[in-house]
Amino acid sequence: MGKVKVVNVSRRFIKDKDTSTLALDNISMEVDDKEFVCFVGPSGCGKTTLLRIISGLDSPDEGEVYLDGIKIESPGPDRGMVFQEYSLFPWKSVADNVIFGPRMRGIKKKDALEEAEKYLELVGLQQFRHSFPYELSGGMKQRVAIARALANEPSVLLMDEPFGALDAQTRNILQQELLDIWKKKHITILFVTHSVDEAVFLADKIVLMSARPGKIKEVINVDLPRPRERTSPEANVLRDRILKSLLKEQNK
Ligand SMILES: Nc1ncnc2c1ncn2[C@@H]1O[C@H](COP(=O)(O)OP(=O)(O)OP(=O)(O)O)[C@@H](O)[C@H]1O
Ligand SMILES: [Mg+2]
Repeated sequence: MGKVKVVNVSRRFIKDKDTSTLALDNISMEVDDKEFVCFVGPSGCGKTTLLRIISGLDSPDEGEVYLDGIKIESPGPDRGMVFQEYSLFPWKSVADNVIFGPRMRGIKKKDALEEAEKYLELVGLQQFRHSFPYELSGGMKQRVAIARALANEPSVLLMDEPFGALDAQTRNILQQELLDIWKKKHITILFVTHSVDEAVFLADKIVLMSARPGKIKEVINVDLPRPRERTSPEANVLRDRILKSLLKEQNK
């Protein structure tokens, strides 16, 4: 059975009695345990909406979402979320950002800080534990966001264009770091991106969504061996195929 199961999910946003947007139209899909799945699709096709529903921050109008066979009805520490925009608390230090989740769950500050060290080490930011977000680069802020999400020991990491605001070089570095963390922590990752390049480098499986109302157009298994060569002939062929399919959707 799938780790995350999305069953016939539809979501309509209603503005007034004459205006509404069908963001997701009867979506069904499964993500296996420890799988790395990337979602790619035109702007406004419902990727963020789908991730928010899986996180429990939003609910579907129709259909259900399950995590380990249990229906998702609210957010929980089993799902960590990392967003595109740096969502750190600006008034808290790096370490205090990372321990936020554990503290909310009632863990003593001293114990939480001890734990936090592990996660700061994982993202290479131990020396910055006392720094504040404004003192960090964009890449460092996203590393803190990842450490903060991991501090709750989630089994699923939901990432919504987490590297979208970074320069190409930093982005490549963070992609590799994320793969290392994924391997080390044995987690399942659902990752939204606009970059086909990124998806082909990261994913076991790419879910290609169609233009609004969001439907799943195609699920592509990425059978390229790891560590992956970004510019191998096989990667190029796959990238080309996905880009063409995406372009068709964007032109709709
Ligand atoms: N809270 C909301 N209220 C009203 N409409 C919404 C809301 N959230 C999303 N929508 C609409 O639902 C559709 C899907 O939005 P969503 O943010 O999920 O798209 P997306 O695929 O993440 O787009 P992007 O790639 O630009 O981030 C859009 O038409 C959007 O306007
Ligand atoms: Mg989005």
